[in-house]
Amino acid sequence: MKTWKTLFLLLTGLMLLSSDAASQKEASKKDLPKIEKSTFTSAKVCGECHVEIYNMWKNSLHAMSIEDPIFQTANLIAFKNSNGETKALCIKCHAPITFWNKDYDLKQDITKEGITCDFCHSVTALDLKNRENPFKLEPGLVKNGPLKGLSSPVHKTRYLKLFETSDLCGACHDFTDQNNVTIMGTYSEWKAGPYAKEGTHCQNCHMPRREGAIVAQEIKKSSVKFINDHNIQGGHSIDQVKKAIKVEVKEIKRYPDKMRVSVDVTNAGSGHMVPTGTPSRRMVLDVTVKTATGQMLKDQRIYKKTLIGAGGMEFTKDSDAMCNRSAIAGDNRIAPRETRREEFIFYIPQDVSVTVTAQAFYQYNPEIIQQTDINIEMGKDEKASR
Ligand code: HEC
Ligand code: HEC
Ligand code: HEC
Ligand code: HEC
Ligand code: HEC
Repeated sequence: MKTWKTLFLLLTGLMLLSSDAASQKEASKKDLPKIEKSTFTSAKVCGECHVEIYNMWKNSLHAMSIEDPIFQTANLIAFKNSNGETKALCIKCHAPITFWNKDYDLKQDITKEGITCDFCHSVTALDLKNRENPFKLEPGLVKNGPLKGLSSPVHKTRYLKLFETSDLCGACHDFTDQNNVTIMGTYSEWKAGPYAKEGTHCQNCHMPRREGAIVAQEIKKSSVKFINDHNIQGGHSIDQVKKAIKVEVKEIKRYPDKMRVSVDVTNAGSGHMVPTGTPSRRMVLDVTVKTATGQMLKDQRIYKKTLIGAGGMEFTKDSDAMCNRSAIAGDNRIAPRETRREEFIFYIPQDVSVTVTAQAFYQYNPEIIQQTDINIEMGKDEKASR
């Protein structure tokens, strides 16, 4: 009798337990964020599970590519100067969901998310010869990525090689205008340089791997222990810019009435020209000579791609360079791994002792109404003579 009673209690207990677990499972499945079946899903939804990746992306220029005041200002000026003709052109790479929905007036919330998670992870093929529309997009229940054999409760996953290649980035990071002038050539610069030949892609430098949770613990105890940096740092990142350039004062040669300073500028860490990107960016090499008598002499070199208009006038603003018929009048930027030897003459007599400082700066003054100049210190070297 006693054993029956125990068994009965045990059984009911088990039943209660299991029905509890079942209802809990139901509830959590119902509560799971919903992925759109046949269109793009908001980054906020992805962010409920891919928390760490979302937090990195949210602070990236990709997430701000439409709100970015620097872009907004240039876009407005281009729009005004062209009587609206540049509308679709300027919006498409900055709000790439428009490749799919043609929402150039930014009426839908998803378009305003800029370069959003689901844009990149819905790309299934690329055709870089078709610059008008290089992306094949398949939004919906399959999310494409760099890993094999993963499973998620809300979407399917598919491994695609293209996530590890520069082509994905190059579809936007290269712009050649109707006159066949390359205004922004980051991808083609990379392609022509040593890193492409060695198989080092944009992602290797801009999305390095680090320890992290691919998905929140509550969703899945994943065996993947790393994530790729989705903050994607570039010219606005001091750390990234500092990696690019090494400066070395190689030689100080003294003559009775003057001195010759040789400085080597090396693009040691950048996968493309320095500077690259939109044409308004420049690098400046400053050389300063301080004498024991308190004199200070300065000289400099400027590195940039020079774009000119019809009358030979230089375009210094991104919107002008992109929207007008322009030509490349010069390009002395430093190619990947190139070392450029620069010579400077200073008229300081031989018997005066000097200290020579050479330093590179990354400079950028965007056409924003509230003028903000960006000036970041890069490589630096100092040498004394006598
Ligand atoms: C309910 C939680 C959840 C949501 C919401 C979610 N994911 Fe996932 N996702 C996962 C899980 C779980 C994995 C697989 C992790 C594993 O197996 O280690 C995954 C894997 C991935 C992968 C890797 C695919 C591969 O094979 O490389 C990508 C890319 C991805 N998700 C993108 C997205 C995007 C984009 C969104 C929003 C549109 C999204 N996910 C929304 C849970 C989620
Ligand atoms: C500019 C395109 C782009 C955007 C935007 C983007 N991703 Fe990715 N994502 C990639 C690439 C490229 C990789 C693979 C990098 C590699 O393997 O070198 C990747 C990898 C992943 C992976 C696999 C794990 C990892 O980190 O390698 C997941 C999951 C993922 N992304 C989710 C997201 C989510 C969620 C968002 C938005 C919050 C997002 N991605 C935004 C391009 C993008
Ligand atoms: C859909 C178009 C698109 C794709 C695809 C894309 N980008 Fe971008 N990227 C942009 C735009 C537009 C900006 C500038 C946003 C702004 O500030 O207005 C940008 C900004 C950047 C920056 C920051 C530049 C700076 O000045 O700091 C870096 C670095 C970058 N992207 C690298 C990448 C890499 C690496 C990939 C490939 C994994 C990639 N991008 C894929 C359009 C794209
Ligand atoms: C070997 C590492 C490396 C590779 C490969 C690489 N980059 Fe960079 N990238 C850098 C460094 C370092 C900087 C910062 C210095 C500079 O502006 O060049 C940078 C800057 C940038 C910037 C900011 C531009 C500017 O001058 O403000 C963009 C955009 C960018 N990279 C995109 C790309 C794209 C797209 C690819 C692939 C086609 C790529 N990078 C390949 C290292 C790399
Ligand atoms: C082919 C794709 C593409 C098109 C078309 C395009 N952009 Fe961009 N734009 C980019 C990329 C990629 C970047 C980031 C590269 C960089 O910052 O160096 C960028 C960056 C910019 C920036 C600098 C943003 C910052 O924060 O520094 C401005 C300004 C800009 N674009 C304006 C425009 C205007 C105006 C138009 C239309 C005439 C336009 N873009 C059309 C891809 C594009």
